[in-house]
Amino acid sequence: MSVYLPRDSAAVSIGADEVAAAITAADPALSPLRTGARGLYALEPLVEVDHGDRRIGFGPVTAAAVPGLVEALRHPDTGHPLRIGDVDTLLADQGQNRFTCRRLGRVVPDDWDDFVAHGGTRGLRRALDMERQSIVDAVTASGLRGRGGAGFPTGRKWQTVLDADGPGKVIVCNADEGDSGTFADRMLMEGDPLALIEGMAIAGIAVGAVHGYIYLRCEYPAARASLLTALDIARHNGLLGADVLGAGHTFDIELRMGAGVYICGEETSLLESLEGHRGEVRFKPPLPAIRGFMGRPTVVNNVVTLATVPAILADGAEAYATLGHGKSRGTLTVQLCGNVRRPGLYEVPFGVSLADVIDELGGGTASGRAVRAVQAGGPLGAYLPASALDVPLDYEALAERGGMIGHGGIVVFDDTVDMAEQARFAMEFCAIESCGKCTPCRIGSVRAQEVIDRIVDGEARESNTALLRELCETMIQGSLCAHGGMAPHPVLSALNHFPDDFNRQAVGS
Ligand SMILES: Cc1cc2nc3c(=O)[nH]c(=O)nc-3n(C[C@H](O)[C@H](O)[C@H](O)COP(=O)(O)O)c2cc1C
Ligand code: SF4
Repeated sequence: MSVYLPRDSAAVSIGADEVAAAITAADPALSPLRTGARGLYALEPLVEVDHGDRRIGFGPVTAAAVPGLVEALRHPDTGHPLRIGDVDTLLADQGQNRFTCRRLGRVVPDDWDDFVAHGGTRGLRRALDMERQSIVDAVTASGLRGRGGAGFPTGRKWQTVLDADGPGKVIVCNADEGDSGTFADRMLMEGDPLALIEGMAIAGIAVGAVHGYIYLRCEYPAARASLLTALDIARHNGLLGADVLGAGHTFDIELRMGAGVYICGEETSLLESLEGHRGEVRFKPPLPAIRGFMGRPTVVNNVVTLATVPAILADGAEAYATLGHGKSRGTLTVQLCGNVRRPGLYEVPFGVSLADVIDELGGGTASGRAVRAVQAGGPLGAYLPASALDVPLDYEALAERGGMIGHGGIVVFDDTVDMAEQARFAMEFCAIESCGKCTPCRIGSVRAQEVIDRIVDGEARESNTALLRELCETMIQGSLCAHGGMAPHPVLSALNHFPDDFNRQAVGS
């Protein structure tokens, strides 16, 4: 019988280490194995214990509650106030379909045998038996789209790199995860880092690259430690190196750290940074797939995208493609946070409505007040009003309402939110994080804050509102990258859906 407890940063931040120490002190035989988290953050620290082929969960557990829990851990079928039952059944009852996150929270990340016992290397072994083109075809047929933000078809990107002539092709994993309200990359890197490494190896074999980089944000020290250990384990067991799983391919990965800059998540800026330059956005074309890192054909993919690939190869493209909605195939790792009762990571097939995610999975607002606005897709995503939340989670459906899926982050606000303040924040964020290369973004975002201040102060409200809209249009049309090109969306959506918030004096008078 084994006891499990996450070492995930979020679980640790609310006492998982203390709970682990308390359990070990109470009974060394129950000393927990440390895993990633399931994503059920309202239940963390979540202690699980084997019971037959099930894992019975108890949470949220405090160190003080441990003495009263020990007997229940020894006999998990007995009742206990913190007992939540079989955790996998709970996830399934929520409508979750754990495809990408199938091992997350179950597997011990530093244990190669446990990784293999949970299906690790199955996808890579399949890929090693296939022609390069067949691997790319499988990824294309799965319908997988990039989870970094733009939702670009992954198979098409790989095909471009496979077809490119240049030597020294490279796989780059974008682990900069800068969007507000997102943490799926972090959870995967902390909880199942070998899935990412396996996905990168498959990408390398598919397009003919022998070298990969993970570009990791410096704010993730636990992910860094987890990845470094996993890279060693992968090399030791032949998942990386000169002869990948004995099949004659070479592939290895280097971990590089970012320096805390949001724009370095944008792929060309990331490549500049990776080459040792200042993180400034490049002109496109050429696309990174044609001329990327050091001018070589480069696959740049997000952590979730790459970590999904092994499962697609293992289960077959069809297994993934049958899930989902419209042109959004497979599952989305929704990261739900903000003013919500049950924040967390929920992997659901595309097509679930945003309202269901917030109400059924999230349990509504933490404050108990009405939802007023939701920002999906990170800091550049539009604010959706409560009346628009019946939208299915799918790239096209959300875009029709002015929103976006982005990296799958959903931030909930209740009816006390000041949307003029949020609009101003969008432009402040844009200004702070601008790489400075183009004028509409660098200067426009600063001017926009000033104009919002004037509107809110009641100064020539009508003409300043028209000016703000014009400025937003200039940024949309004239910015070099999506940072300046999309920052106006939260502002315009706030103006369109919540005009009264910009009219505080009139409302107050
Ligand atoms: C301002 C900005 C920030 C971005 N930040 C990230 C990020 O933190 N992580 C990420 O994977 N993609 C980010 N992207 C998207 C990347 O440019 C790129 O599209 C992505 O890494 C490609 O991988 P995918 O096809 O797997 O999504 C950002 C894009 C922009 C415009
Ligand atoms: S839009 Fe902003 S972040 Fe993007 S290239 Fe221009 S200045 Fe840089």
